[in-house]
Amino acid sequence: MKKNLKDWIVPWLYTSREYNVGILDEAMDNPDTARLMLNENPIPPSEKVIQAVADSLRHGNWYPDSFLRLRTKIGKMYGLGPNNVALANGSSDTIDAMMRVFLQPGDEFLLSTPTFELFPPRAELCNAKVVQVPVRKDNLNYDVDGMLNAINDRTKLILIINPNNPTGVFIDDADLDRFCETGVPLCVDEAYLDYNLDRPSKASLIEKYPQVFLSVTFSKAYGFCGIRFGFVLGSEEMVAAFNRMFLPWNVSRMAAAAAEAIIDNPAEVKSKVEHNNRWMAIFTEELEKLGLKPFPANGNYMLIDGTMTGKTTEEILKAALDEKIYLKKIGEIHGKTGYFRVTPGTDEENERFMKFIRTYFA
Ligand SMILES: Cc1ncc(COP(=O)(O)O)c(C=O)c1O
Repeated sequence: MKKNLKDWIVPWLYTSREYNVGILDEAMDNPDTARLMLNENPIPPSEKVIQAVADSLRHGNWYPDSFLRLRTKIGKMYGLGPNNVALANGSSDTIDAMMRVFLQPGDEFLLSTPTFELFPPRAELCNAKVVQVPVRKDNLNYDVDGMLNAINDRTKLILIINPNNPTGVFIDDADLDRFCETGVPLCVDEAYLDYNLDRPSKASLIEKYPQVFLSVTFSKAYGFCGIRFGFVLGSEEMVAAFNRMFLPWNVSRMAAAAAEAIIDNPAEVKSKVEHNNRWMAIFTEELEKLGLKPFPANGNYMLIDGTMTGKTTEEILKAALDEKIYLKKIGEIHGKTGYFRVTPGTDEENERFMKFIRTYFA
């Protein structure tokens, strides 16, 4: 008897959590609703980036090479060489590859919760077990002891996002070292580090700990969500492993050209970061005035604790949508509803958000 298609497909395709991208189509159909829900950058690429991408199209008929010049420039930004850099099609590409590099069916991937919601499904699609340790109840920091205690023989990969998404908090250096010392492969995701001009990258860790790697993206401070560009920083052995797992042409000539153009023009990133950080300070002050609790604004997003208002997260999101603002839904944390997350948009969109919170939470 012939089998149904579903019976041919690996069973974990259906048991894995799905990453919901439905909001993207909805937002595209509603351009007058402010996209304050996705940690995007509200400022489009500069003419320099656009011109570089247009020029790269002249070789659009040739397969991409390994972009040695670009990898050399990136390496220099971190005091590393080009062979410490593996290029990725956004850091989601890294997230996917790292699961396949380290996890066999039944192995465990250890992370915190709440988190960026793409991580669990990509591990589950390798038929791995996802072990999530809730953030601490008192301050929503990483529960470092809880995570370290959850490590066992099957733990093959650990994730620390620094600063964390959605809580915005940094892990203490000493605590990060404790994870490095376990010897278990560790991904330090620095997607939002560029918003913190006073904080160096943890790239120096890879010299001492060959099992540690960093994941970096240009989607946030650089504003390349739609262009798709990111990279892994690691020992040469680590980078070679990722390059073997990545598809040979995972980064297009257009994305690489855009990346090089923005690296050559640091003023572009600086002004994007300034716009974000200025608005984050304004949001923080206003939310505190209204009696809500904003979490640290160390990225381009802010977790807001509105549990004391008696309103549910769903109610808050619905009211914002009525005012043409998309906010990010945050599920219950330690059994409490009323958390949500916001990302600064354009000046006009941010004024709209300020007006909304003043009216709704007054
Ligand atoms: C912590 C973290 N890592 C990675 C990503 C993915 O970014 P991208 O695939 O656009 O580089 C995100 C996106 O929001 C994120 O929050």
